[in-house]
Amino acid sequence: MDEVRRRLRSFSDAAATEGKFLDWFERLYEHADSNPVWIPWSKGEPHPMLVDWMENTNRSPGTALVVGCGLGEDAMYLAELGWKVTAFDIAPTAVQWASNRYPHEDINWVVGDLLQPNKEWEKAFDFVLEVHILQAIPEEFRIPASRNLSPLVSPSGQLVCIGRLSIDDSVQQEGPPWPLSEKFISSIGNDLKSIDFTPVQFEGEETIRYRAVWKNE
Ligand SMILES: C[S@@+](CC[C@H](N)C(=O)[O-])C[C@H]1O[C@@H](n2cnc3c(N)ncnc32)[C@H](O)[C@@H]1O
Repeated sequence: MDEVRRRLRSFSDAAATEGKFLDWFERLYEHADSNPVWIPWSKGEPHPMLVDWMENTNRSPGTALVVGCGLGEDAMYLAELGWKVTAFDIAPTAVQWASNRYPHEDINWVVGDLLQPNKEWEKAFDFVLEVHILQAIPEEFRIPASRNLSPLVSPSGQLVCIGRLSIDDSVQQEGPPWPLSEKFISSIGNDLKSIDFTPVQFEGEETIRYRAVWKNE
């Protein structure tokens, strides 16, 4: 495990010991002190599976919600495509950092919690994006958080989730992150209609990743 992962684990283990399971994100961003090298998920560019989806579906821009936006690369990508973006994260330091990095007039940066989404977000977004949040939080939070995604999708909207796929559920993974089972992933869409499930293994990686997409009828 490299130093970045070791630091992540020490923060997540300490937060778990204190029973504050979601606090380590803020601590990690704070300690990074504006140096993205300490944020292992931040690659400085949008997720390639998001880019692939947008390029192959060519949707007209509307309203987009980026859940757990981190340092904001996906939000910025969508804004540049013409979407009116709301990007939120539970960690105030991440939101401040992302808004300094990408001060785009069509991005509304918000501190928020997927476990208690803003009431006015209900059915408000033509595109709801979740990348690597559900896999980063323990199951007792993951399940209720996952149920809060589909109600945010507008009547003609889509929900896109991207993360790590577990190929053998009998193996107990030491997370975070915790790769997700196909059964759990399929439950995220809830009452939406599934239109894509793509597993991918990128060159040089052992991890299998997935993209799952649903639409409202
Ligand atoms: C693994 S990071 C991924 C960040 C970003 N989506 C990316 O791909 O670069 C998970 C993010 O989810 C945020 N997060 C965790 N729990 C959350 C919650 N309940 N509501 C909103 N954001 C949350 C964390 O602060 C962190 O920025």
